[in-house]
Formats: sequence, C-alpha cells, structure tokens
Amino acid sequence: MPRHFLKDDDLTSAEQKEVLELALALTEDRFARRPFAGPRTVAVLFDKSSTRTRVSFATGIVELGGSPLVIEAGASQMGRGESIADTTRVLTRQVSAIVWRTFGQERIEEMASVATVPVINALTDEYHPCQILADLLTIAQRTGGLADGDQALAGRSMAYLGDGANNMAHSYLLGGAVAGMDVRIAAPATHRPDPAVLARAEEIAAATGGSVLVTDDPVAAVAGVDAVLTDTWVSMGQEDEKSARDADLFGAYAVTDELMARAGETAVFLHCLPAYRGKEVAASVIDGPASVVWDEAENRLHAQKALMTWLVDHPDDATAPHALERSAS
Ligand code: CP
Ligand code: NVA
Repeated sequence: MPRHFLKDDDLTSAEQKEVLELALALTEDRFARRPFAGPRTVAVLFDKSSTRTRVSFATGIVELGGSPLVIEAGASQMGRGESIADTTRVLTRQVSAIVWRTFGQERIEEMASVATVPVINALTDEYHPCQILADLLTIAQRTGGLADGDQALAGRSMAYLGDGANNMAHSYLLGGAVAGMDVRIAAPATHRPDPAVLARAEEIAAATGGSVLVTDDPVAAVAGVDAVLTDTWVSMGQEDEKSARDADLFGAYAVTDELMARAGETAVFLHCLPAYRGKEVAASVIDGPASVVWDEAENRLHAQKALMTWLVDHPDDATAPHALERSAS
C-alpha cells in the first residue's frame, strides 16, 4: 500500500525533516533524483484555480523524469458526476501518483482510500500541506538551514495573521507543530482555527517540543518571531462572502511595517500567494527587504519534488502507526 500526503501530520517529525533535507539537496542539484524515469505519468487534477501549484507540480514531475498529466477535473467525467472512487480506480491502473486540488478534505480522503498509488493534497478547503513544506524550507534556509542540528526548525517561531479558520492556518498549525516550532495564530474570534485541528496541533507540539498559541492580538502574536505569515482574506470557494471578508473584519491583522517592526530583528515575511496588496499585506512589506515570497514560491518546486521522491521511496508503510505515535515511539 502507498503512503499518501493528505495533511501535514501524515509525515512524522523525522520524516518531515527527511523530506526538507532532500528538498534542500535538490535546490543544489536539481536533476539528482529520477523516481519517475520511464517516463511514468503523474496525474495532477484541479477543481480550483492555480498558478504556482500547477507550474511547480508539472515542472517537478518532468524534472523527476516523469510526465505530468494535468487535468481540469470539471472537464473530466467527474464534472458530469462520475464518482471519485471510480475515477481513482481508472487513474491508479495507469499513473504512478495522483495530485489533487479540490474542495472538502473528505473528497481526497475518499480518493486515498481507493488509490493504490500515492495521493497528494494540492490544497483542500481544510489544508494546504505542500505549501507548508515549501514555507518550512524557506524559513530553514533563512534561519540557519537544516544542517545545524537534528531539528534546525525546532524552537523557531512563526506568526500567522488573518483568517485563522482557513487551510493555511490549519496547515501552519499542524506542519509547524510537527517541526517542533512555536506557532502563533492571530485571528478575530469569529475566524479561529477548527478546535479539532488546534487540539491535534497541541498534541503534536507536546511530543515535538513545539508550542501553539491562538490569540486575537496581532501585536502579541508577532512579538520577536522568526517569520510573519499571512494569506488572502477570501479563499477559493468563499467568493460569495467577499464583501464581509474585508478590512472591517480582518483589518487589524493586515501585515504592516509597524507589525513587522515588532517581529524579530531578522524576521522574514511569507505569503503563499496570490497576494492582495493593501488588504492582508502592505505593498511595502511584501515588496520590501524582509519578504521572501519569491523564494517561497520557487520552493514549492523543490519541496514537492522531494515529497514525491520520498513517497515513491516509502511505498509500504501504510500499516505504520499514525504520525504522532510514530514520533512518540
Ligand atoms: N500558493 C498557491 O498554492 O498558489 P496557486 O493557487 O497559484 O497554486
Ligand atoms: N487560502 C487560499 C490559499 C491559496 C493558495 C485559498 O484557499 O484560496
């Protein structure tokens, strides 16, 4: 049975570090690994818009020796009602991995329950775990790399400001906790993380030495942190709420120069992109010296290549205990 990557804690702390170390190595020697040589085909399905995810998976699969098959899911028979299970059975007879950007997490979980090849979450309403791997790689590059100890990210801190209930907030909580980081989420009381995700992040942090804080105070959240993070106030699928998701609700959480000045002296600014200047981030911050957003966007390529290589290298671990149990044992 294959290993899948559906959310951030599908990798243990040690496994996440292996993936990040491989990603770092691939930044130095881009064509070092060829797990899809043949070429083997990887299906990349989109139910939502994408620029970075589309380009980085397609490019990465080619660089790993394979052939990407990018499918607009709405234009496939799924768009006319063919079931996820039947679609997955057809795909897994032919391709070597499936990457899917979709809506509810239960959709990709259903796919993974049927798939005989690795399934990778390229963003759901609940999680965006590939983005967090790229972000952790970016933070590691800027705060001493991964080579200076067993867990170079452990003890580092990051503060995410804005919609605390979206996919990025949830993935920062889980992925940051797996990395042993100090993760802080500042959001209005109406848009806090899912309590179940928060509880899971707290459980993981207790095992990895990390910590988790959710607050409505953006100033307290950014105090002294290594990285300040934000995301759009209107995620894909929330377009109907656009007028309500504006500065009246989230304005206090916009990343400004004043807030960046309260972060650590060498703090970096990250944004998964696309960004809306003058909304969740000031132009002077995202276009300023602390911003590492273009490295972050490039790191999608390296992180996902490492993830795909790692999953191909670890095909038979489906019976292993869950991530937390593995990290605790
Ligand atoms: N950050 C990110 O996933 O970008 P896209 O929506 O353009 O893929
Ligand atoms: N939270 C955003 C992330 C985009 C990459 C969304 O889901 O639209």
